[in-house]
Amino acid sequence: MYDYFLGGKDNLPVDREAAQQVLRFVPEVPIGIRENRAFLQRAVRYLAGQGIRQFLDIGAGLPTQRNVHQVAGEYAPGARTVYVDNDPQVLAHARALLQDSPLVLVAEGDLREPGHIMDNPDIRAHLDFSQPIAVLMLAIVHFIPDSDAPKDIIARVTRSLAPGSYLALSHVVIDERPTAAPGVERVYQSASAPFVPRLSSQVTPFFDGLEIADPGIVNLHEWRPDSDYVTPPLLQIASYFLCGVGRVP
Ligand SMILES: C[S@@+](CC[C@H](N)C(=O)[O-])C[C@H]1O[C@@H](n2cnc3c(N)ncnc32)[C@H](O)[C@@H]1O
Repeated sequence: MYDYFLGGKDNLPVDREAAQQVLRFVPEVPIGIRENRAFLQRAVRYLAGQGIRQFLDIGAGLPTQRNVHQVAGEYAPGARTVYVDNDPQVLAHARALLQDSPLVLVAEGDLREPGHIMDNPDIRAHLDFSQPIAVLMLAIVHFIPDSDAPKDIIARVTRSLAPGSYLALSHVVIDERPTAAPGVERVYQSASAPFVPRLSSQVTPFFDGLEIADPGIVNLHEWRPDSDYVTPPLLQIASYFLCGVGRVP
């Protein structure tokens, strides 16, 4: 569905049908997703500027344009990247398209079992956990229900990281469209992961315990926009898709 929203070709009729149903409730989804990919690029560039040379991208998704290791390679040559996902189709594509360099590892993992990711011997062989690592959780935590305790999951992940590591996280919020949420939830009932609608006030606590980088926890387009950036009119609303970058003290 995500690939379809991005205008890609790696999607099936069942994905397209479900994606079109989501668009009926929230027509601005494709803009939000493009903004999310743009945030990914700005965040990786920022993290490279902070000296980060290791990236752990959890819920990496299907390879698309300018993936984490490509952006990291540009701003931090020699940077090492691990892509983690729990979807077998995503892993197959990622192994075929991303693992083209000894600096990249693709690993199966489920964020609902963070210990398995953080203790995975292949991941620990690829990344040096005694040194700072930037963990990316972009557009994934809104697929983790409260019953799986997402705040505890995030704390488990950041606890495994060396001081000076970072977490970059983005999460859809429904403050502006509360009435669309039940419709979208229904579509995702038959998807591989449920969509979990949350308000901004439920997302900001995910950053507890971290030193939040400027400009804070804001909408995607407000996070360190490029100088020539023009906000798409649809996104000039209060809250639709929050993001932030926090440093492990
Ligand atoms: C919307 S895509 C986001 C892709 C990429 N992070 C981005 O922001 O462009 C969400 C990805 O998270 C993966 N995912 C969902 N739940 C997951 C879980 N519990 N563990 C690992 N991956 C998960 C899905 O398979 C999908 O590839």
